[in-house]
Amino acid sequence: MLLLPLLLLAVIVPGGDNEDAFQGPTSYHIIQILTFANSTWARNQASGWLDDIQIHGWDSDSGTAIFLKPWSKGNFSDEEMIKLEDLFRAYFIRFTQKVQDYVSKFQVEYPYVIQGITGCELHSGKSIGSFLRGALGGLDFVSIKNHSCAPEPEGGSRAQHFCALVTQYQGLWGIIETLLSETCPRFLLGVLDAGKDELQRQVKPEAWLSSGPSPGPGRLLLVCHVSGFYPKPVWVMWMRGEQEMPGTQQGDVVPNADGTWYLRVTLDVTAGEETGLSCRVKHSSLGDQDIILYWGYPTSVSLIFLAILVPSLVLLICLALWFLRRWSYRNIS
Ligand SMILES: *[C@@H]1O[C@H](CO)[C@@H](O)[C@H](O)[C@H]1NC(C)=O
Ligand SMILES: *[C@@H]1O[C@H](CO)[C@@H](O)[C@H](O)[C@H]1NC(C)=O
Ligand SMILES: *[C@@H]1O[C@H](CO)[C@@H](O)[C@H](O)[C@H]1NC(C)=O
Repeated sequence: MLLLPLLLLAVIVPGGDNEDAFQGPTSYHIIQILTFANSTWARNQASGWLDDIQIHGWDSDSGTAIFLKPWSKGNFSDEEMIKLEDLFRAYFIRFTQKVQDYVSKFQVEYPYVIQGITGCELHSGKSIGSFLRGALGGLDFVSIKNHSCAPEPEGGSRAQHFCALVTQYQGLWGIIETLLSETCPRFLLGVLDAGKDELQRQVKPEAWLSSGPSPGPGRLLLVCHVSGFYPKPVWVMWMRGEQEMPGTQQGDVVPNADGTWYLRVTLDVTAGEETGLSCRVKHSSLGDQDIILYWGYPTSVSLIFLAILVPSLVLLICLALWFLRRWSYRNIS
């Protein structure tokens, strides 16, 4: 009886590390969201990301960067960071003003939102490419292609007008070029190195099963929870033996508060067909030791506790009874 929980634990917490595969983010990008409520009210939000990990925030009131990790500055000096902060502060203010000034020309109605994403990414073979895309009201507007401003078809004549305007400002264009092709790649390599202990860490998932709300009469919803893993890529599947169950439904991979990830994977089955099904989890932190949980096995911690507690209690009660009997015999005789 004690052996079963131990065996299960051995399945849940397999050993073995996979150190050789390169893990971690490969890109840095800045997201800018500029909201205009009317001709006098605008709000600018900005943040800096390594893939899906935020490392920079922006305090719009003071116009300063927020460094969310101890290594968020990469290998840039404080002086260089202050110069970049000054540049972004000036850009955010002037860009907002310019857009407000030209808004009549663009014939955009309030309220509207401008979204921008720009950054650079490491390709295989160590080359680094950069990108810049802008959207207006959720539609693609402009992008940078081959070092020049390219209007997107969805942006219409406004986008063509915008590109014509930006290209006129040679100074601005030069700054964008330098940031994209020189500063960003240098920063990316530096920050990936500075944060490598955290970025390339491997955290093993925990997995457990539960049943969800019944999808209908005579049906069961089997739920496989996988939580606490890092990095994000994970493979989870309901299986019968080595056969993948095609009805497996994946939820979104959602973040935990500690920077790890959570995923819920469900399977809708006819009652009675659930025996022999298992949930299989593959993750880089597990090497080739997949987690396999079988439906119907006691996997929860409380069951493991019960399995230890009940025999111990029975033993204690037996001992107590035996002592009580001896004691009462002795008193009688
Ligand atoms: C502009 O929008 C802001 C925020 O919604 C609002 O507080 C302000 O009263 C508006 N101003 C005008 C002139 O409409
Ligand atoms: C990129 O621009 C250069 C000149 O600026 C041109 O010679 C080249 O053909 C362009 N490449 C593409 C893919 O458009
Ligand atoms: C930071 O690291 C990158 C890549 O290793 C390097 O090119 C750069 O010179 C370093 N220093 C600064 C200040 O960017």
